Amino acid sequence: MSKILVTGGAGYIGSITTRHLLAQGHQVVVLDDLSRGHRHTTPPELLRIVHLQDTAQVEPHLEGVDAVVHFAAYIAVGESTREPELYFSNNIGGSLSLFAAMARMGVKRLVFSSTAAVYGNPEKVPIPEDAPFGPVSPYGESKTTVERILGQLDQFRGLRSVALRYFNACGAEPENGLGEEHEPETHLIPLLLRAIESGQPVQIFGTDYPTSDGTCVRDYIHVSDLADAHVAALNHLMKGGASAQFNVGTGRGETVMEVLRVVEEVTGKKVPFTIAPRRDGDAAELVADSTKLRRTLGWEPRRSELRQIVEDAWTFFQRGRG
Ligand code: UFG
Repeated sequence: MSKILVTGGAGYIGSITTRHLLAQGHQVVVLDDLSRGHRHTTPPELLRIVHLQDTAQVEPHLEGVDAVVHFAAYIAVGESTREPELYFSNNIGGSLSLFAAMARMGVKRLVFSSTAAVYGNPEKVPIPEDAPFGPVSPYGESKTTVERILGQLDQFRGLRSVALRYFNACGAEPENGLGEEHEPETHLIPLLLRAIESGQPVQIFGTDYPTSDGTCVRDYIHVSDLADAHVAALNHLMKGGASAQFNVGTGRGETVMEVLRVVEEVTGKKVPFTIAPRRDGDAAELVADSTKLRRTLGWEPRRSELRQIVEDAWTFFQRGRG
């Protein structure tokens, strides 16, 4: 059993990863300022309400901690283009403050929430980890910068870290009452479900991409499988493993219209939609080459069939929220 500090543990992926860590027998402390996370997602006895940028407030919570899993960040790509300073300050500033506190307290293992957005518009799909960085939004830039900083901290602080580059996180764990609760919501699957409920059409952003049906292709990965990747990354670090970066995706891609059709099949309802222009910054196709994660950490997706993802998201949407 290890003692793990989870920053941003009241958010979507953080709360579900916390459950997986507890199920493995780890002791967990959750740091969250609840600016975007939700109090009800975290067992109250584990939650510490702390601003990550306040280094002195963070330090005492690192006492006796074996490793940190660092989720805390703002995640909306569109918002980041309107408020870049907010994203740099929160995502880079918050991380730096955490790393300074870790250095003071002698904590030398970290799993970092990164993103496919570090690649921008990749030259090659499926995308391997050694593809060049090319972020096209302040959000992507903030995560890229933190990954670069971690490279230096490995060398000069002996901080061993694993960066997990998520593709399209989705799905839910309705059995734990946990799933996506972003406000405002920008992600495709919850928006399709909301459109069914409200009758307000969802916009399909672009039907003229060079893909099978003209809509964008994404690699949808179930949040449960993402959480498992964090547990595997922690085990790697606890065994003395070296710093590394891994894509977390299935290696399969689905178009927006394919996702919409699966939502209709699972729910038995029509999704009202309208065709809209392309959304700024959307790449035509983002699919992970996840060979490295499978080979190095023995990770395999278990719940990421699109039908399963949508069933879980729908169950959570209908009864699991709040
Ligand atoms: N889409 C629509 N209509 C909507 C919302 C989305 O057509 O109302 C489309 C998008 O254009 C895109 C696909 O559905 O083609 C998926 O969009 P999401 O917003 O759900 O996800 P993204 O692929 O844009 O973003 C995800 C993560 C980001 C991360 C990015 C990495 O949410 O955090 O992948 O590229 F940065």
